[in-house]
Amino acid sequence: MAANYSNVNNASSPYGSGDPYYSQSTGYITPQTPPKKKTSGWIKFGVPVALIIIVAAVLGGVFGSRASKNSTSASSAAAAASASSVKKEIGIFATGTDSLYGLPIYPSTTNSAAFSSPTFISTQDSTLAWPQDSFKPSSPSITNLRPDRPRLIAPSYKWAALPTLIANDPYMSYWNQTIFMNATIWYNADPVPYILDGGNGILDPARQVKQRIKAFSYCYRVSNDTKWLDRTWVELQNAAGNLTGGWGPNNSTKWNPVHFLDTAEMTAAYAIGYDWLYDVWSDTQKQAIMWSMITYGLNNGAIAYSDHDTSYYGWWTKGTQGNWNCVCNGGLTMGALAILNDDPTGVAQALLQQTIPSALGNCILATSSDGTWSETPDYWYFGTTGLAELAASVQSATGSDLGLLSTNANLHLGALYHMYVTGPGSLFNWGDNGVNKYTATANAVMFYGQAFDKPAYQLFQRDALDAADPWNMFWYNPTVSGAFWDGLALDHYFDNSTDQWASMRSSWADENALFVGAKAGTLQGHQSHNDLDCGDFVVDALGARWFGELGDENYLVPGYFSNDDQDSQRWLYYRKRTEGQNVVLVGGANQNVKAAPTVKFDSSNTVQGATTVADVSSDSTAYFVSDLTSAYFNVTSMKRGIRMINARKQVLVQDEINSQAPVQWRAHTNATVSLSNNNQTATLTIGDATMVVELVNPPSGAAFSTVAATRLPTDPTLPAGGEDLPNDTVTVLAVSLPAGQYTLQVLMTPQWPGLSQGSLKSPGSVALDQWSLSSHP
Ligand SMILES: *[C@@H]1O[C@H](CO)[C@@H](O)[C@H](O)[C@H]1NC(C)=O
Ligand SMILES: *[C@@H]1O[C@H](CO)[C@@H](O)[C@H](O)[C@H]1NC(C)=O
Ligand SMILES: *[C@@H]1O[C@H](CO)[C@@H](O)[C@H](O)[C@H]1NC(C)=O
Ligand SMILES: *[C@@H]1O[C@H](CO)[C@@H](O)[C@H](O)[C@H]1NC(C)=O
Ligand SMILES: *[C@@H]1O[C@H](CO)[C@@H](O)[C@H](O)[C@H]1NC(C)=O
Ligand SMILES: *[C@@H]1O[C@H](CO)[C@@H](O)[C@H](O)[C@H]1NC(C)=O
Ligand SMILES: *[C@@H]1O[C@H](CO)[C@@H](O)[C@H](O)[C@H]1NC(C)=O
Ligand SMILES: *[C@@H]1O[C@H](CO)[C@@H](O)[C@H](O)[C@H]1NC(C)=O
Ligand SMILES: *[C@@H]1O[C@H](CO)[C@@H](O)[C@H](O)[C@H]1NC(C)=O
Ligand SMILES: *[C@@H]1O[C@H](CO)[C@@H](O)[C@H](O)[C@H]1NC(C)=O
Ligand SMILES: *[C@@H]1O[C@H](CO)[C@@H](O)[C@H](O)[C@H]1NC(C)=O
Repeated sequence: MAANYSNVNNASSPYGSGDPYYSQSTGYITPQTPPKKKTSGWIKFGVPVALIIIVAAVLGGVFGSRASKNSTSASSAAAAASASSVKKEIGIFATGTDSLYGLPIYPSTTNSAAFSSPTFISTQDSTLAWPQDSFKPSSPSITNLRPDRPRLIAPSYKWAALPTLIANDPYMSYWNQTIFMNATIWYNADPVPYILDGGNGILDPARQVKQRIKAFSYCYRVSNDTKWLDRTWVELQNAAGNLTGGWGPNNSTKWNPVHFLDTAEMTAAYAIGYDWLYDVWSDTQKQAIMWSMITYGLNNGAIAYSDHDTSYYGWWTKGTQGNWNCVCNGGLTMGALAILNDDPTGVAQALLQQTIPSALGNCILATSSDGTWSETPDYWYFGTTGLAELAASVQSATGSDLGLLSTNANLHLGALYHMYVTGPGSLFNWGDNGVNKYTATANAVMFYGQAFDKPAYQLFQRDALDAADPWNMFWYNPTVSGAFWDGLALDHYFDNSTDQWASMRSSWADENALFVGAKAGTLQGHQSHNDLDCGDFVVDALGARWFGELGDENYLVPGYFSNDDQDSQRWLYYRKRTEGQNVVLVGGANQNVKAAPTVKFDSSNTVQGATTVADVSSDSTAYFVSDLTSAYFNVTSMKRGIRMINARKQVLVQDEINSQAPVQWRAHTNATVSLSNNNQTATLTIGDATMVVELVNPPSGAAFSTVAATRLPTDPTLPAGGEDLPNDTVTVLAVSLPAGQYTLQVLMTPQWPGLSQGSLKSPGSVALDQWSLSSHP
């Protein structure tokens, strides 16, 4: 077993040769096409012989760790030391990464001492202890700042602890190495060029500049090698327009305040460079960096705040609960904190009185009562990164989060949301997916783990590909121990009426697991980033996504972000229309933007144990039933139920339809689809994986067909200059029926390795109102 882990720390990529983002010659690469997934054989049904032995061993580890929580400090120090040596021995849990999102692959075997319940082990051992801050002002305020530098995110005492922590923790050691590796690539590259893109301004260059300044400043502080200091200076000179050729307009709009995210990200970049290297810049250099920040960043922030009802710069300052408020206030706050008391103009001090209240009234409320992000699962990355950087900067600079982490009592659930919305291969990525990420990562999950004392969050995120980030050198607590999946429920229902969505899976640690995401929720109030998609679902199994999302339309098409009214031009584009979702279409029409669905969800509450292979009992299930009547015109009623059956090996989608207009069941797939002779069964293949989709007890006339993922002939025309992105590789599996009353049952059976036909279940005919945990034995 240990062989699975050996030499992990010696490989060039500790994720091993399976890391698709890594090349021996060039380091990290951006994949042009999503790496194709392999189906590995280790999972599943019928417990492999080796596992029986492991389960026994794991029990020892679990009990050992649980006992340590209640023990004396002497034995907890021993537990900490033992956890540390185990960590060093096994290295990194994940053995590779896969998928578009770089999700970790876990081995099928377990190390008994490490895969235990999540915990932070308290220890007095200075080589293992997480450093504690001694800066604790009695009356914290946004202008009462820690006396030493850095102020932002990483105070000096944390830098001082780094060498020992890195030496003792395989993750920190890997991240440090990765940051240096990336920084070296950027060191040898030209400074980030100015590229103004019609819709997204200079957001890409701004985030690239920030990515580099973070990495270069980090490398300087860790190595004391002045080459990093010099290279930071070049990048700061460049984006200030002070190198030959200039950079953008030669006036106060250089950082493109009309698209304020750009200004904010640039300001954050300069704030880090100024603050982290404060003690080594000359006075002249500090002045130069500060004046660029004031001229191109903070002064524009003051304009945004001075007239937020009419200033185009500042529309995001109030009444907007999404990523903009978090990112813009985050960047301005970091900039202002970096130069406070050095700034002779007073703009920094004035802004700090505005950004914090604005974030408290807007940004922090973008996380709803159940943790769901107001926009979409992908926009969560941008908004939550902005919020984490803001809160961490305020916390380190003032000794308090000043309410940013406590005012929304459910903020911490934002991390749980990300965990559950992440399927085995991809996100349940409804709605828009946003621009390039660069510095927008999932590392807010790590920060929330520390801020809210949630070891499972840290254990989840530390295996993610984007965890190799300078922030995590300060957010990760290396005393964390265990496996995030130990004791974690396989299902979760997010019940806020704004989204109402469920996550159901067969395992947390198996890339081939069955995963179903299903949603209802209201269709307005998502910052115009959602689709008309009540009843939408995705299905993953065998390492593939079988039914999925189409994602963004081109952001630059006319009317795309106009509004979320029924007649919005946004809803003219195929990907945003109801026909572009995995739902029932009625009369070819869009859903009603005033939809107010109701949902019933239940789960066997199965939790995964310590082992990477979930032991799912025969009655383990979950279901999501939504009444979608209010989402449609021309229906008497419309209900959809989705459930796992047969011990999470099969999925049933059941629709109860009573419609005055023709209906079409639609689901989008990347698979190659072949229909049986009677059109009652569709066989889907992706690579060497297969999924059989059947109509069970079909009403008369119901049959599968395949149609192109393109707009219907009856659709209203697009605005002048508007165009749908093509999706030639996507097929819509459809069932078309005239107006009438029907129950449609669609049964999905992934062809699991070794699956025998005799082990399959047929769902019977149970009305949605009668669904229960035991209705489909
Ligand atoms: C961090 O990584 C760099 C580059 O690999 C290495 O030179 C340095 O020693 C590492 N730092 C620590 C504290 O291990
Ligand atoms: C860098 O310099 C600081 C301050 O002089 C010192 O504490 C630290 O040990 C040095 N680090 C390295 C890697 O030389
Ligand atoms: C800005 O000034 C620089 C020289 O300082 C020049 O090279 C560049 O072309 C100017 N840019 C614009 C947009 O005028
Ligand atoms: C700044 O310069 C750009 C490019 O030269 C110009 O289009 C813009 O009007 C100027 N803006 C201001 C506020 O001076
Ligand atoms: C760039 O040059 C301008 C004009 O001399 C100066 O105000 C600014 O501080 C400089 N910025 C940097 C980062 O060098
Ligand atoms: C949904 O979350 C919002 C916070 O974003 C909260 O104001 C609202 O009360 C929640 N609604 C329900 C039904 O819990
Ligand atoms: C390293 O570079 C890769 C490729 O550009 C990027 O995806 C990753 O986020 C970078 N990591 C860090 C720590 O900057
Ligand atoms: C097709 O595959 C891409 C890339 O993995 C994925 O983003 C998309 O959601 C898939 N589309 C469908 C309809 O499943
Ligand atoms: C759909 O087509 C567009 C344009 O060809 C492509 O960029 C996108 O990845 C495709 N999306 C899916 C989900 O396959
Ligand atoms: C309802 O159905 C009727 C008859 O098919 C059709 O004329 C009308 O446009 C439909 N209304 C909506 C909002 O789809
Ligand atoms: C099945 O569908 C195909 C193509 O849509 C059609 O040509 C064929 O007649 C159908 N077969 C039956 C038995 O309905």
